Amino acid sequence: MSGAIRFLLGNRLIEASDFDPQLTVLDWLRKNRHTGTKEGCAEGDCGACTVVVGDLAGDEIRYRSFNACIQLLATLDGRQLIIVEDLAQAGLHPVQQAMVDHHGSQCGFCTPGFVMSLFALYHENRPPGEQGIGRRQIDEGLAGNLCRCTGYAPIVRAARQALSVPADDHFSQAREQTVASLKQIQPTECLELEYENRSFFAPRSLDELCVLLAQHPDAVMVAGATDVGLWITKQLRVIDTLIYTANVTELQTLAIDKQSACLEIGAAVSYTDAMGALTDVYPDFRPLLARLGAVQVRNAGTIGGNIANGSPIGDMPPPLIALDARLVLRGIHGQRTLDLEEFFIEYGRQDLRPGECVEKILLPLPSAGQQFRAYKLCKRFDQDISAVCAAFALTLDKGTVASIRICYGGMAGVPARAREAESTLHGQSWTQAGLDGAMSALERDFEPISDWRASSEYRMIAAQNLLQRFFLETTRDEPVHLQAGAAT
Ligand SMILES: Cc1cc2nc3c(=O)[nH]c(=O)nc-3n(C[C@H](O)[C@H](O)[C@H](O)COP(=O)(O)OP(=O)(O)OC[C@H]3O[C@@H](n4cnc5c(N)ncnc54)[C@H](O)[C@@H]3O)c2cc1C
Ligand code: FES
Ligand code: FES
Repeated sequence: MSGAIRFLLGNRLIEASDFDPQLTVLDWLRKNRHTGTKEGCAEGDCGACTVVVGDLAGDEIRYRSFNACIQLLATLDGRQLIIVEDLAQAGLHPVQQAMVDHHGSQCGFCTPGFVMSLFALYHENRPPGEQGIGRRQIDEGLAGNLCRCTGYAPIVRAARQALSVPADDHFSQAREQTVASLKQIQPTECLELEYENRSFFAPRSLDELCVLLAQHPDAVMVAGATDVGLWITKQLRVIDTLIYTANVTELQTLAIDKQSACLEIGAAVSYTDAMGALTDVYPDFRPLLARLGAVQVRNAGTIGGNIANGSPIGDMPPPLIALDARLVLRGIHGQRTLDLEEFFIEYGRQDLRPGECVEKILLPLPSAGQQFRAYKLCKRFDQDISAVCAAFALTLDKGTVASIRICYGGMAGVPARAREAESTLHGQSWTQAGLDGAMSALERDFEPISDWRASSEYRMIAAQNLLQRFFLETTRDEPVHLQAGAAT
């Protein structure tokens, strides 16, 4: 055994060593008799296990909700874990009191999870008063929590009450002290945990990460664990070596590089962190991002993980490919850059060589007059994986298609461009007649599979209709978003 993690549980310092690196936060909590946090699905879907993690952000603490069932305990090093037992002090916490006042609980199984999601919202920056939080924010904030008996109306009423006042609880009162405690436990070097035959590493620099990957070619990288966590909890996979990437400074890059005119997104940037920068550049990214998992998944999950996972129904590759993004890969022997679409070779096979990691995504800034949309179709509005995801980037020159890139997820074994449809449209007038030809061309581009998410026929019709929708949205009278210069 070498190494140990230190974190605050509420305001208590915990030092943990000699534990299985695959141990989840939820299992650790429940084995240590903190049974307020519940297990429902053990796969990030129901929110019964929601906890809040506080991270140091300068002299502030940033509170975010996570699914404890798929979050690895080892990733808590240097952080504050807040669980439902920490909330009530002299009396109930305001979010708990609001749940009582509005009868937001029946059997109570989901309640700790809702309370923790409300607690995270309570500590978010928001204007005070009734106008402070709107229904959409409440719905988005609670989309990752399922309740089978109370119904959501009382819970939404509780949210309105609790969130109508500025945060003022024993956590905000103890902020300075907590910041000081967190500063004392910030990791400064690579964490190495050994347990029986298993290892966990948390490097802090890209060089360290590359050396570790060269030394452990069979290691599994883990960032937000919203895919890898399920391999552990659902597939019961045993992973001998885990390398946690979220502490690697370079992988947290999120900046516009003026020289290359790109938004650079480090592979370990979470969706929540990327949301602002991405939607500043491409406002039409928002509806898709807001429906990717739910807030707990977006707080943990990363765009790099979505790409590296290589799923044909991952939501990030279609829009990024439509926008001509490139991928930077890095290994001990250096860096290489490729078009994102080239990364996906065939189902289950990506162009990632042994010892390489995804370093960052290079997303070109919008060109003058470019129009972009991304659409997601799935069975549920929130917290569901796409049956079909479609993304379109179009530039017109006096009504003629100067460039168009169309990319779909869920239509093939990999996220793929509709090249026949694109070439049908290129150089033609952007009219319904031209579009009809492109919609037929989609049948030459794809032979989608049928599975429990959607039949082949449904997928094809959906893909055609989404192209039609994009056409309507770009030709209707109301102004459409033109992003020229938006990111400079
Ligand atoms: C409840 C729930 C809902 C979800 N909803 C959606 C959804 O709506 N849309 C969607 O697309 N996905 C969804 N997902 C899947 C998942 O959240 C995403 O794929 C997410 O982006 C994965 O990121 P991560 O950081 O959690 O990856 P991890 O689980 O940490 O890793 C995923 C894969 O990427 C590899 N990896 C991670 N970082 C790197 C790197 N730097 N270099 C090379 N390889 C790396 C890992 O080894 C692993 O193979 C959902 C998951 C859950 C649990
Ligand atoms: S137990 Fe369902 S999300 Fe964790
Ligand atoms: S109160 Fe029973 S599941 Fe929500």
